[in-house]
Amino acid sequence: MSDALRFVDVTEDQLDAVIRVRARSFGGLAAGDREQWLEDARVFIGDGRYVGVAAGDEVVAAARFWDFEQWWSGRRVPMAGVAGVVVSPEYRGRGVGSTLMRGLLQRAVDKGFPLSGLYPATTVIYRHLGYEFGGGRYRFSFPAADLRALGGKEVAVRRAGPADAERFLELVGQLHERRRTNGPLIWPVKQVTGWLADEDNFAYLADDGFVVYNWSGSDLCVDELVAGSEATARALWATVGSGSSIASTVQAYISPDDPVHLLVEHEAYKDVQHQRWMVRLLEAPAAIAARGFAPDATVEADLRIDDPEIPANSGDWHLSVAGGSGRLTRTQASGDVLRLGPRGLAALYAGTPLATLRASGLASGGAAADLDTVFAGATPYMLDYF
Ligand SMILES: CC(C)(COP(=O)(O)OP(=O)(O)OC[C@H]1O[C@@H](n2cnc3c(N)ncnc32)[C@H](O)[C@@H]1OP(=O)(O)O)[C@@H](O)C(=O)NCCC(=O)NCCS
Repeated sequence: MSDALRFVDVTEDQLDAVIRVRARSFGGLAAGDREQWLEDARVFIGDGRYVGVAAGDEVVAAARFWDFEQWWSGRRVPMAGVAGVVVSPEYRGRGVGSTLMRGLLQRAVDKGFPLSGLYPATTVIYRHLGYEFGGGRYRFSFPAADLRALGGKEVAVRRAGPADAERFLELVGQLHERRRTNGPLIWPVKQVTGWLADEDNFAYLADDGFVVYNWSGSDLCVDELVAGSEATARALWATVGSGSSIASTVQAYISPDDPVHLLVEHEAYKDVQHQRWMVRLLEAPAAIAARGFAPDATVEADLRIDDPEIPANSGDWHLSVAGGSGRLTRTQASGDVLRLGPRGLAALYAGTPLATLRASGLASGGAAADLDTVFAGATPYMLDYF
């Protein structure tokens, strides 16, 4: 990268330039979206989460990160959700995107995020920086008539609105803790309130669950469905399926482990949509301490991490997992220890079997290390794109 280019914080008066680069990267903002985009951008700027690369005074690349939390084995882990990574076409292919992302990683580390995640449009740049696939966003489709037939008529279901946001968050939290879920994002109550206030979303609440759905063309589409019991699952899915006289298909953003797959008469259609997201450990000990582990699994193992981008993660570590919690402490390892780079560490964290990591060159050594029992769990998924 030339000396004239430097890593910067994006400022408000540079947002027009960012919009120009963005238009050349993702297409223009719809007329009605500009004000909301600017409002969001000011929040990122105010919080030091909008960064760029400038040539002179002009911003030629930009990226931002959301202040998210993510469920990992039923616990909330702060996660820097990287989005809007754009480089102006005339600057691409010469290291600008990498400089931008390196600066962003450092910023997220400085802000204390143990973890970062993103949806990659291309994996190359992110893999170079230590990200690896962590999970997916899945959209399944079901015949609406099959959902309608699920019954659950004994369960009372009422229309819900913005005033129910806190209750929704409480129900989601209970479900993810109980199922030791991996992957979904935790949105602030303000965003949940806005989602429930949107007239295009149809929200229904039962004692131990809720559903939010909307139209997607001539199909219905479930944004989220949480049910604490089989009866409530039946009732909420049947509520959506009651639209079967008009909508023949219901699409649903759900986990591949969702009970509906085992309840509904016909398997999901074959048009499952799957978008992968990537994950990276920014501060390895904090990321291990924050996530949950299977309560009855234990492990004591040494590992050697080599993380060229974030050297504080590098070196010899001892991993200790017991009672549903893990700790990573400095050690002096000797002999045949398990060796991982940041990509191997990220994929392991997300539950990828060690055999897969070895077979793809992301882990080596430590023949006796058996970490699968502690890291394995529910398939990581997200409901939201960001
Ligand atoms: C993707 C993008 C941000 C990369 O920026 P860049 O400045 O070209 O990236 P760099 O020059 O630092 O390249 C880093 C690595 O990524 C690779 N790379 C960059 N763009 C790529 C692409 N479109 N496909 C495959 N690899 C790509 C480079 O070849 C390089 O790898 P190498 O060192 O092994 O050759 C930029 O092309 C862009 O703005 N694209 C349009 C918007 C977009 O897709 N954003 C990403 C959203 S997740």
